[in-house]
Amino acid sequence: MPTATTKTNNTIMSDNNQGFSSSFGAIMAAVGSAVGLGNIWRFPYIMGKYGGGAFLLVYLVFVFMIGMVLMMTEFVIGRRSQHTPPKAFLHNRPDKKGWKYLGYLCVFTCLMIISQYVVISGWTTHYIVDSAVGTLSSLQAGDMAQHFNSFVAHPWLPVLFLLIFTIITAFIILGGVQKGIEAVSKILMPVLLVLVLVLCVRSITLPNASIGLKYLFSPDFSKLSGEGILAALGQALFSLSVGMGTMIVYGSYIPANDNIFKTSLMITASDTLIAVLAGVAIFPAVFSFGQEPAGGPGLVFQVLPTVFNSMGNIGTVFAVMFFFLLALAALTSAISLLETIVAWLCESSSLKRSSSTIVVTIAVLAIGALCSMAYGPLKEFLILGDNLFDFVDKLNSIYLPPICAIGTVIFLGWQMKKDDIIDELSNHGTLKVGYFKYYYFLVRFVAPIALLVVLFTGIINSLQ
Ligand code: TRP
Repeated sequence: MPTATTKTNNTIMSDNNQGFSSSFGAIMAAVGSAVGLGNIWRFPYIMGKYGGGAFLLVYLVFVFMIGMVLMMTEFVIGRRSQHTPPKAFLHNRPDKKGWKYLGYLCVFTCLMIISQYVVISGWTTHYIVDSAVGTLSSLQAGDMAQHFNSFVAHPWLPVLFLLIFTIITAFIILGGVQKGIEAVSKILMPVLLVLVLVLCVRSITLPNASIGLKYLFSPDFSKLSGEGILAALGQALFSLSVGMGTMIVYGSYIPANDNIFKTSLMITASDTLIAVLAGVAIFPAVFSFGQEPAGGPGLVFQVLPTVFNSMGNIGTVFAVMFFFLLALAALTSAISLLETIVAWLCESSSLKRSSSTIVVTIAVLAIGALCSMAYGPLKEFLILGDNLFDFVDKLNSIYLPPICAIGTVIFLGWQMKKDDIIDELSNHGTLKVGYFKYYYFLVRFVAPIALLVVLFTGIINSLQ
């Protein structure tokens, strides 16, 4: 375990006591973080909406040129420092204490994202049960929306499922980095791939599947507006889980002899592949049964249950499989979010990993439950005109991740020593880094500008 030799008492490792044990484990854990609700309910829908193949092309450019560059940046900062966000920045630039605030912002962003993520993951977990016991299959197409709305407005049922989901996540974190996160990711990610593939086969063998495939893939550049281009960029960042310090923490767990460039390339490619496969699993089936394409909760909790019902008895099996898939994708993402906060608390307080996990889990449960109740008992409670869930959603989609991401690329591009970056990317001179000048250019100029555009257009749109 190469990273083990670099640990001292005040690194995160002292309490979490080891990083990932293998390259494969590291990649599976990071792919687990990246593959989440965004891949399944957001990517396929925006791809179809903004011109299919045309959108995919733009997305590929952004995800490899900006998303992957950010991932490499976070890995470099994390692995070089062996610390969580606030200290990771300070370690790389000890003379500029102010950078620690960027670290705090990253941890806060993770807390906000996970609090929202567990709400939706709880809904998903409930829908596994709902489809398994036949509740969904007994509903008519017209009743799906009503069923969903009354479930999320229920005073305690969604909170109960949020609790179940969050506690499962917390148990995995309690297991530790290798025996919890890595072990679980190494099993769940291949399972997830198999589930997506099975659903893909079912979907493309349905009658008229080609309509859905056409919606997804046929390139239509007239639909690719400026809005579509921005959506591609925003999705490229969100989908790779970059811009909130998660990959700094995972970076600190990456084995010392792993090639950061190759690892990031594999993670980016796998995440993109799964997003495209999710589209193939969903849209041919949606069109085949005469439903309208949609994204987000509407797609997952209303359109798809109707599609599964149209498949007859076997539909139940596919429904359970689909919601299970979605819950797995959400679980491995939630793990990385919780880990970031727990690792930070562990490092910056005298609490042990187990106590840190308990404290953070209680905080997530509290904020998550409040967000969840924004659809029910706390409907009337508004912050700046939004209910709590929508308020947190705005923070998470418009403000926090781009701000953290801009800070992170500026930190590496303009504050760290070039030689240190090369040293880390080349594993102290043992790997060739012929790509470096392109990477350095992207991180110093292209990424900050692109991120600023995302931030400002997001703010402007939200004010309109
Ligand atoms: N990438 C996740 C998805 O596609 C969402 C996400 C964004 C995330 N930032 C994250 C997950 C940080 C874990 C950690 O759904």
